[in-house]
Amino acid sequence: MEATAPIRIGVAGVGTVGASLIRLIERHGNDLAVRSGRSIMVNGVSARDRGKDRGVDLSGMAWFDDPVALAGDPGSDIFVELIGGAGGPAREAVETAIMSGKHVVTANKALLADCGTELARKAEAAGVSLNFEAAAAGGIPIIKTLRETLAGNTVSRIYGILNGTCNYILTRMEKEKIGFEECLADAQRLGYAESDPSFDIGGQDAAHKLALLTAIAFGTEVDSTSLYVEGISSISPADFEAADELGYRIRLLGVACRTESGIEQRVHPTMIPRSSAIAHIDGVTNAVAVEADFVGQLILCGPGAGGEATASSVMSDIADIARGDRVGTFGRPASDLEPYRRAAMRAHEGGYYVRLSVFDRPGAFAAIAGRMAERGISLESIVQRHRAPRTTAPGHLVPVEPAPVIMITYDTAEAEIRAALDTIKSDGHIAETPQMIRIEQFD
Ligand code: HSE
Repeated sequence: MEATAPIRIGVAGVGTVGASLIRLIERHGNDLAVRSGRSIMVNGVSARDRGKDRGVDLSGMAWFDDPVALAGDPGSDIFVELIGGAGGPAREAVETAIMSGKHVVTANKALLADCGTELARKAEAAGVSLNFEAAAAGGIPIIKTLRETLAGNTVSRIYGILNGTCNYILTRMEKEKIGFEECLADAQRLGYAESDPSFDIGGQDAAHKLALLTAIAFGTEVDSTSLYVEGISSISPADFEAADELGYRIRLLGVACRTESGIEQRVHPTMIPRSSAIAHIDGVTNAVAVEADFVGQLILCGPGAGGEATASSVMSDIADIARGDRVGTFGRPASDLEPYRRAAMRAHEGGYYVRLSVFDRPGAFAAIAGRMAERGISLESIVQRHRAPRTTAPGHLVPVEPAPVIMITYDTAEAEIRAALDTIKSDGHIAETPQMIRIEQFD
């Protein structure tokens, strides 16, 4: 391949992102050639349905029914994988491309979260690039930022809003005071949620992205199995009401940080101060904050999904390869990635919001506070909210009805709050499973 010859790409998966990428190359081909030093051309494509109208002209490109055949075809220099999925044809095609000596650009977070270290090693051994800017936070250039721009820093913490569907649902629940199911149905109708929305709302989509960011930020092997993951389906309007009164917002966050016992990686609904920068990220927008020793805090926000934004990130990887910029997949040689040392979630320390549905009778409040004290948990506040109106006729016994009790703790260990809530549950003072949301104090 001569340095000035056009760079030829094969695109597997011509859905929204693939079609946007082809359009981007059509529209910006001349500028790209100047910026990359070589012209970029799509030589081959592969997708399921050849006859489908995708709004782009594929007539000059070789068609492959099988993405693995495209991956092994000598007619392209870069294989762009936009198929998705952790295994199946995506994995086989990426491995085939690497073994055929092709550079690979992928948007596939599930694949890299599952076997990113192994693929990085294979790419390195084959002397090719494996780039994945589009796999985390769509159009936000967070991979390049972490891998290259922040090369002179030691990162201590990275956190962010990594799933647009969840952020859309939580923002609407908060602003319009409506329920979870209604918001999820709208997110699906608008095409924000993955085909299986349980992946979005259960937190796994954000977890895959966080696992990739963690590997670069902390120089570790990718480990998406050690993450603590909690989704958003238990968040109720009552939690938003309480959060608002307390000066917080609720967002699904991915957080990774170094602790004395290892690296903590967690995805869960989080109460964050209303005044913090990340609390202002609404709707499907994503945001990633990085805290590092020399730069301080950096926050990048932008579209986390969508054809054009994702194609923009795919193109940035292609342009790097066309220019000859070669960086290790996770910012260092794959052999230098350290084994991931997991910090146990039980050791996590922080503030907690707890909402209990307490049978409203004398002593219940004191018993609950006592159980918290037994575990060494100090309460910043405990408030009993209104209880349901009593509807019994005069002369009849008034039934004991549950009333919401909201507690905020000072910093405590996760193991202690869990143990206290288990005891409170078995004491028989509460009518429902306790709601517990972790609090983070961001600027
Ligand atoms: N479904 C994802 C989201 C986008 O809602 O953010 C792709 O990862």
